[in-house]
Amino acid sequence: MKAIVLQQNSPSKIQLLDLPQPICGPKEVLIQIKAAALNHRDEWCRKGKYPNLKDGVILGSDAAGIVAEVGADVDPFWLEKEVIINPAKNWGTNEKAQSSDFEILGMPNSGTLAEYITVPWDRIHEKPPHLNWEEAAAISLAGLTAYRALVIKGQVQANDQVLVTGIGGGVAQFAAQFALALGAKLFVSSSDDQKISQALALGAIAGYNYTKDTWNKEVIQQTGGMDLVIDGAAGNTISNLMDLCKPGGRLVFYGATRGNPDHLEARKLFWNQLQLIGTTMGSDADFLQMLHLVNKYQIKPILDQVFPLEQADQAFDRMKEGRQFGKIALVP
Ligand SMILES: NC(=O)c1ccc[n+]([C@@H]2O[C@H](COP(=O)([O-])OP(=O)(O)OC[C@H]3O[C@@H](n4cnc5c(N)ncnc54)[C@H](OP(=O)(O)O)[C@@H]3O)[C@@H](O)[C@H]2O)c1
Repeated sequence: MKAIVLQQNSPSKIQLLDLPQPICGPKEVLIQIKAAALNHRDEWCRKGKYPNLKDGVILGSDAAGIVAEVGADVDPFWLEKEVIINPAKNWGTNEKAQSSDFEILGMPNSGTLAEYITVPWDRIHEKPPHLNWEEAAAISLAGLTAYRALVIKGQVQANDQVLVTGIGGGVAQFAAQFALALGAKLFVSSSDDQKISQALALGAIAGYNYTKDTWNKEVIQQTGGMDLVIDGAAGNTISNLMDLCKPGGRLVFYGATRGNPDHLEARKLFWNQLQLIGTTMGSDADFLQMLHLVNKYQIKPILDQVFPLEQADQAFDRMKEGRQFGKIALVP
């Protein structure tokens, strides 16, 4: 079968290989992948900036497909079902945080950028019927992360003023769509005015270009401040984001695309009663709730572009350069 594997000594760090089809264990299902999707994690792996990297591992955490085979201990109900995969393995029993055995599909063990994959049967869920293969493939990792950030950690309420930063990003577009579905007032930021226009068309009240020095002053003047900020960039923008929260505001961070901040103003934090909250992916219960929300509100992931597996280099480059609006899908 065709598969995209990490190969750090190759020119583009990834290679399309012909590998044997995986063998289904007794508690596993074999899935014929119809579409997969990229997450920034895949690009971090390609850049060599992810822990415990192993050459030869198939990258990718997200996919949708058809169950082609069920293991001896698996309910035959699943055979030929259209499914998506929850890439979060071994969350554990504590809803507050993942266990030390927590693992994400696609590194250190093989992932979804292939024609077939085997996963434990409890990682599959029926594909939302209103989505096509590429849309369904785009949900899992980013949807789960956005749901936990916004709902579980951010405790979003109807009419909350919510800023989702970097709206071009995969997690950001889910956070934005979930916020709208739950009745929040959505504001966005981006480096790209075109992406801001796209977010306004989606239902955002206003958008701000974070490359302009004055953007956070404009947010405060025009909105009176945010109840909740959802951010995956971190870096030195954390101080700016704290400035544009109302007293008592919550800032939820799910990533650090811009690295660590050089400094953090503790006085601003405690005097304004702010909450800085970290989050990572989500539990199995979060995944079920997220899927329920997607089905209830018929939410459709925004697809940026679809590439064949053979053009994975181009798909990864698009993500590296931050040109996407929404999710990048790959089809085997
Ligand atoms: N903890 C977790 O469970 C988890 C899960 C998923 C992702 N992540 C992390 O979260 C980050 C985003 O992931 P993703 O998959 O959504 O990535 P992505 O689709 O590649 O999106 C990245 C986006 O970040 C935005 N950005 C870059 N610099 C920014 C800044 N200074 N301020 C605000 N936004 C900025 C850009 O938005 P514009 O183009 O609109 O400017 C860009 O499109 C990555 O670092 C990833 O590793 C963590």
